[in-house]
Amino acid sequence: MNVYDSDRMTDILRPLGFSLSNDPDDADMVILNTCHIREKAAEKVYSELGRMNKIKSRKKNQGSNMILAVAGCVAQAEGDEILRRAPFVDLVFGPQAYHDLPEMIARVSRAKGAVLNTSFPAQVKFDHLPEVMLGSEAINGASAFLTVQEGCDKFCTFCVVPYTRGAEYSRPVSDILVEARRLGDLGVKEVTLLGQNVNSYHGVAIGGTEWGLGRLVHEIAEVEGIERIRYMTSYPADMDEELISAHGEVPALMPFLHLPVQSGSDKILKAMNRRHGADQYRQLVERLVKARPDIALSSDFIVGFPGEKDSDFDSTMKLVREVGFIQAYSFKYSPRPGTPAALLNNQVSEEVKTERLKILQDELNKQQLVFNKSCVGRTMPVLLDRPGRFKGQMIGRSPYMQPVHLSAQEHLFGAIVNLHIDVAQANSLAGSLEAVNQSKNVA
Ligand code: 5AD
Ligand code: SF4
Repeated sequence: MNVYDSDRMTDILRPLGFSLSNDPDDADMVILNTCHIREKAAEKVYSELGRMNKIKSRKKNQGSNMILAVAGCVAQAEGDEILRRAPFVDLVFGPQAYHDLPEMIARVSRAKGAVLNTSFPAQVKFDHLPEVMLGSEAINGASAFLTVQEGCDKFCTFCVVPYTRGAEYSRPVSDILVEARRLGDLGVKEVTLLGQNVNSYHGVAIGGTEWGLGRLVHEIAEVEGIERIRYMTSYPADMDEELISAHGEVPALMPFLHLPVQSGSDKILKAMNRRHGADQYRQLVERLVKARPDIALSSDFIVGFPGEKDSDFDSTMKLVREVGFIQAYSFKYSPRPGTPAALLNNQVSEEVKTERLKILQDELNKQQLVFNKSCVGRTMPVLLDRPGRFKGQMIGRSPYMQPVHLSAQEHLFGAIVNLHIDVAQANSLAGSLEAVNQSKNVA
């Protein structure tokens, strides 16, 4: 979501004469788009601000100005604190306010003091964002993000998102379809439908009915040019029958799903306020596999949540071994100010968290490598959406989101090609074109 937001900010700024620079020394404005989900991410903002201030001061001495802005969830949660700790910051705005960037920049330029904007209305933002056009940053080659939902009402006890991103909001169906059609017209082949809790999508359609995500997926699959659909991030308890069946009915829906479970212990899941138990998660996976037998999963895990005993962690490891994940993100629990779990007095020691994280990650890495190796010898449709590191080299995505490297086929940028998988590594694959497939499958 943050990548998408950064892209949209760039789209807003282009008409004002800005273009992207990779070098802060060269920049008239630097925006740090920040994440508040764990303490480490939030603290990084302040060290990065110190670095940017040096550049800002140097430029000031040379007679030029640099606007320094902090965007995103740290800005939303700690706006005043940022201005106190880093008074040289010009602009602080939350994730629901960036459509106001032109006005905020004008106010900074006229300038008496810093501008702080942490207002909330997601709907207003979407109404004011520019249309996605050719050259839009939100389109990365042949794949693009499409936000369908924002915010979260679930209040997991460890999580800041309901406070920083605000209440759930679903965009109307017609707005989403217009954007999907535009993306298709612009040559996009893969869309990833985004939302903090995308399964809770319930957008108003023409006639006043409400559509869930499953219905929306069916409709987007009909859009000319769109050949692949993904969605994230999912909340298991909100996956309804319509969405599960869509996995069996819509071939464009890719057989890979990020389905965060967080823990395998019912006691911990309850303390997390997750609204699903470990067995419910297992049953959900069974239903998904029944609908789409080749589906593979990734997940998020938190170790060392307050009160997590060895036996709870063992339950997580049991679930991981039973379900099997081809990829996953795992984190040590990080107490976040303002969330209920941060106030619990049975916090787990750093040492135990480190130990458990290592055991979990070793198992998850093993599972990922086993899956990657099982792909060697198979032929997979790969969307070539990025240039590689070397001239001519391309990188694409398999249906399972594995990066696949391919040599010397630059002209195939944006195509979905059938690749024979030759090599598997921990985090990526390498493939080659199958001569027989070339004419048939290059779109
Ligand atoms: N500590 C550690 N991990 C967290 N996550 C969210 N909040 C915290 C926290 N306080 C993880 C969850 C979530 C992912 C995006 O980040 O696993 O799914
Ligand atoms: Fe955070 Fe996801 Fe829980 Fe919402 S559902 S509170 S975003 S972890």
